[in-house]
Amino acid sequence: MEIKSAVFIQSNTDVEKCPPTTLPEYAFIGRSNVGKSSLINMLCNQKGLAKTSATPGKTELINHFLINDKWYLVDLPGYGFARKSKSSLEGFSKLLKAYFQKRIELTCTLVLIDSRLPPQKIDIDFIRWIGQNDIPFVVVFTKSDKQNAHKTSVNIELFKAELFKEWEELPEIFITSAEKKQGKEELLDYIKKINLGL
Ligand code: GTP
Ligand code: MG
Repeated sequence: MEIKSAVFIQSNTDVEKCPPTTLPEYAFIGRSNVGKSSLINMLCNQKGLAKTSATPGKTELINHFLINDKWYLVDLPGYGFARKSKSSLEGFSKLLKAYFQKRIELTCTLVLIDSRLPPQKIDIDFIRWIGQNDIPFVVVFTKSDKQNAHKTSVNIELFKAELFKEWEELPEIFITSAEKKQGKEELLDYIKKINLGL
């Protein structure tokens, strides 16, 4: 699938104010700085569509982008950025929890994971939480250009092993680099397939 048009629609601090729609919606979530906004820009071929920054915490709102007039991409704030959080679940803001629990248009969540790191508790905790809330998701490893392919695959195998401790089946897994445009076709084709099946 090709993205022919990608239009910023709205930023919201309140899930109730997000655009009312019957169109499918795909949300990008993951730790602050994992590369959510960069991946959206890469998929849409527009460098400045979603705001990116080397400093974590850049995206603070729920941002809706309308794609090909047919579906939405949603850029969300990262989790794990709360400075004084006691348990890692406190890193998930009220805004994020409300979005995932109330946004019935949400078709699939793309959980982004930094391919440079071994499994992180906060990511495993988040995946457990969306699983408990029956939210469909896939796992997208980011920044694969930052190290060699072997290191990436070692971290992915460790992550899978961690998931297998709690899940009988693994989700779809994608390897991406916003820098090198890796994973673009695979992700867009996956979204197309889901849209066609709806
Ligand atoms: P928040 O909005 O703060 O939660 O962050 P985010 O997840 O949206 O991350 P963002 O896209 O802003 O990227 C964070 C930093 O990582 C930026 O400096 C990006 O340029 C860099 N980055 C993102 N994706 C890639 C990638 O695939 N490769 C490389 N080398 N750098 C990347
Ligand atoms: Mg962002």
